[in-house]
Amino acid sequence: MRVARVKGGRRMGAPNQKIPPISPLTRGGNAHGRRSGHFNHHAAPKPKVGALRRRWFWLLVQNQKSFGDLGRLLRQRTILATHPWAARKHRINQRFPRPPPRGARGQKIEVGDRSYKRGQTGYHPLMNRRPRPRRKTRSSAPPPLVEVDIHDLASDGRGVGRLPGGKALFVAGALPGDRVRVRIERQGKSFDAGVAVARLDDGPGRVPSPCAISEACGGCALIAWNPALQHAWKTERIGRALIHIARIESPPLEPLLAGEPLGYRTRADVRLRLHDGVAEVGFLASGTHRMVPLPPDGCAVLVPALNRLLDPLRELLPQLEGGIRLPKVRIESDGAGRCRAVFKTLEPLSRVDQTTLIAWGEGLNVGIALSSGEVFRPVAFADTVEGCVLSPPPGAFRQANQGLNPELVRLALDGLDLKSGDRVLEAFAGSGNLTLPLIARLARLGGGAVTAVDWVAPAVAQLAEAAQGLGEGVGLSAQPCDLEDGAAVAALWGQGPWDALLLDPPREGAKTLLTHLKDRPDRPGRVVMISCHPESMARDAAMLIEAGYRIDKVVPVDMFPMTPHVESVSVWQRVNP
Ligand SMILES: C[S@@+](CC[C@H](N)C(=O)[O-])C[C@H]1O[C@@H](n2cnc3c(N)ncnc32)[C@H](O)[C@@H]1O
Repeated sequence: MRVARVKGGRRMGAPNQKIPPISPLTRGGNAHGRRSGHFNHHAAPKPKVGALRRRWFWLLVQNQKSFGDLGRLLRQRTILATHPWAARKHRINQRFPRPPPRGARGQKIEVGDRSYKRGQTGYHPLMNRRPRPRRKTRSSAPPPLVEVDIHDLASDGRGVGRLPGGKALFVAGALPGDRVRVRIERQGKSFDAGVAVARLDDGPGRVPSPCAISEACGGCALIAWNPALQHAWKTERIGRALIHIARIESPPLEPLLAGEPLGYRTRADVRLRLHDGVAEVGFLASGTHRMVPLPPDGCAVLVPALNRLLDPLRELLPQLEGGIRLPKVRIESDGAGRCRAVFKTLEPLSRVDQTTLIAWGEGLNVGIALSSGEVFRPVAFADTVEGCVLSPPPGAFRQANQGLNPELVRLALDGLDLKSGDRVLEAFAGSGNLTLPLIARLARLGGGAVTAVDWVAPAVAQLAEAAQGLGEGVGLSAQPCDLEDGAAVAALWGQGPWDALLLDPPREGAKTLLTHLKDRPDRPGRVVMISCHPESMARDAAMLIEAGYRIDKVVPVDMFPMTPHVESVSVWQRVNP
């Protein structure tokens, strides 16, 4: 769910999701839902506390006010007239005014004919809340420093050491073999977590980092580790997940497929900010909301075309009236070095800013779009895979490592072992990175049928358009569908049977899709699963085994060198009728 963050770190749902909309014309109806001539606040369903809080929040957001303005807003007749829940709270507040802040905690306080103990209930007797547990005050003592040897690497790239009692300690900025001084920042029951503040000894696999900000940024947690060790660790990570989660005794692991270790990323989300009048471009430090500005020579893993965009972005920011409201930009570059920038705006752009952005894009021949879908300056933007040209729309998913992507596609399609006339279901198809080459292969074999599904409708539409005239004798059904929605997935399986299933889910995996698979007597004979998360892949692998499939091979693919992420392609055969 999209979330908005409020001061204090509380998370609130976005207004168009799950939260009942606040209409200025909302009136209470009676218990049968009929409208009466007057407001009937009591007949309106009572919102739950969480929903009520969100409504307060959006009331303030809609009126562009802060929490301090709440009292004054409530006294305004319009708000009271149009928001029955606000009016109800206001009447309660007037009948039972908040007691003056006097008396010690726990002292009895009389309010009208009621009494309550100060500090022991919610602040109002009618709110009927359970007493809130008192917040633990933070100790002012400095966080403890310890020295540990790092013996392993966690799946998120943090080093793992052991405290003297044997408790595990996860250390950001440490690699296996290092001896480090650690500032402990979180103490848990079974493990602690901290940050390496000094390296006392370097591990044997350490190499000089090619990036000046790698430690502060943390995005490439393995950049100072020998690439051969990275590959061995990534392969082992996939193997371990299959052994421990999917219970496969000896996973048929093949050697890792690797490409260029640096300068490979063709897509990045960069942040912009004006800091003391200086425009900065950077990344968010791993696991935080703190921006780390990029050095003048850019980022070591970005392709040169994107690094060349960083300076113009710095120059652009002060020219924008609402520059401060453009916190994030997705920059992308295609195989021919053409670039586009998708700006994530918090508010609609002013006319002046739109003109500035378009002029900026024209000067550099860069496409300009907003994350809301508006395209201000279209450019020809296309990737070529196995001879097929695909043009993902701005904002849709696109593989970040276009150098290695053709290999990934080849591996997946080889694994499908296609035959003439095959019917293939492709789930999580995106803009057709796998679909278009799949159609082309089936056409070469003599024909077949493909059903491609993804929940991003513009991507699916783009896929269908790009596939036109591509494969003679191959039928394509491109469908937008939420594959987390059980009913939609059941209906999708009903369109079968299919000979083969190709799936490339996001990090969360394909649980709903595979849950339905095992109940289908007509389930496909072959399955190829691409995954960017070994642990969710292993969970899905267990579901495939339960559904009667056997793993034939699994190939790790290093789509994200220097980071702890690893992709895999696994090939499955149905053995159990
Ligand atoms: C890892 S990408 C793969 C896309 C494509 N196969 C490619 O190689 O470019 C995962 C895709 O899953 C889609 N997706 C994520 N959650 C989904 C859901 N609940 N239902 C359908 N599609 C979903 C995303 O839109 C994205 O296109």
